[in-house]
Amino acid sequence: MRIAILTSGGDAPGMNATIRAVTRTCIYEGIEVFGISGGYEGLIDAKFEKLVQSSVADIIQRGGTILSTSRSERFMTEEGLEKAINSLKIFEIDALIVLGGDGSLRGAKMLRDRGINVIGIPCSIDNDLAYTDFTIGFMTAVETVTEAISHIRDTTEAHCRANIVEVMGRECGDIALYSGVSSGAESIIVPEIPLDMNEIAEKAIMGKNRGKKHHIIIMAEGCGSAFDFAKEFEKFTGIDTRVTVLGYIQRGGAPSIFDRILASELGYLAVKEAKLGNSLALGFKDGIAIKMSFEEIFKIKKVFRHDLLDILKIVSI
Ligand code: F6P
Repeated sequence: MRIAILTSGGDAPGMNATIRAVTRTCIYEGIEVFGISGGYEGLIDAKFEKLVQSSVADIIQRGGTILSTSRSERFMTEEGLEKAINSLKIFEIDALIVLGGDGSLRGAKMLRDRGINVIGIPCSIDNDLAYTDFTIGFMTAVETVTEAISHIRDTTEAHCRANIVEVMGRECGDIALYSGVSSGAESIIVPEIPLDMNEIAEKAIMGKNRGKKHHIIIMAEGCGSAFDFAKEFEKFTGIDTRVTVLGYIQRGGAPSIFDRILASELGYLAVKEAKLGNSLALGFKDGIAIKMSFEEIFKIKKVFRHDLLDILKIVSI
C-alpha cells in the first residue's frame, strides 16, 4: 500500500508532529509513504518524495511544515483538479492524508468526490472548523498570543495606556476569545458579536477611575482595522492608546504539548483509517479523537463560546 501526505493553507504548529506520526505509523505498518511538497500546488505538479524514518527525525518540536504549503488557486479549477488526480494515479497512491484548515479540507472533499481515498486532519491556528473542539495549532497560537500580551501589558502599564492587540483568525474569534481569557484582557472584539463601543469604553473608564494603569483589548482581524478602532476608543475614553498587530508571530514557534499529543494521535489514526480504505475527517471532541464524514463536517455550524466570554467579562475588570 502507498500513502501520500500534504500540508495545505496556512501552516500551523503541530503540522510537523503530524507528518512525523503519519510517517512513522506507515513504516510500522509496512506502508510506503510519500510527502508532497507545497500542498495542492505540489500535488498538481507531482512533487512527491519518499519519506523514511530519518525524514521526520527531530521535527516534533518544530513549527511550520517540512513539506511546505500553499494556497492553490489552480486546484480550484477543473484542469488543476484533474492534474492532481492524475499525479496520484501516476504514483499509485492508495490514500491521501491532507493536513489543513477549512479550505484545505474542502479541497480534500473535492478529491474524495472524485473517488480518491482521503483522510483529513484539522490543522489551523484559526480553530474555525466546527466539528472539532480544537484544530492542531490553535492552542499553540493562543499560548504565543498570551506570552506576547504579557510583554505588552508591562509597557502599557508603565505608561498608563491602553493597547489594542490585533490577532489572527479570519472570521473566527476563537484566538481572541481564548487568549483574552488566558491573558486577562479587559475586552475582546470578535466577528461573532456586534461591537459595543459604549460597553468597552465604559469598562476602561471605570478601570482607570479605580486606579488601573493598563487596559488591554484584543481585536480579531475579522473585525476591521485595529487602528481605526483605537482612534475611536481614544476619543471616547481620553486614554492614550496604542496598537499592536501580532501578525505572523502567532503562526510560528514550537507546538504546545497539547498540539504535539493531538498531532501524534490523529496522525496515527489517519494511517489506520486509510489502511481500512476509509475516506473521512478526524477531529477531537469532548476529550477524545473522533472521525466524521466529509458531508457531516461541513454541515455543522460553529458555536461561539458565549459562556467563556461571560466568564471573561466577570473576571477581567
Ligand atoms: O488561516 C490561518 C491564517 O493565519 C489566518 O489567521 C490569516 O488570516 C491567514 O492565515 C493569513 O494567510 P496568508 O499568510 O496566506 O496571508
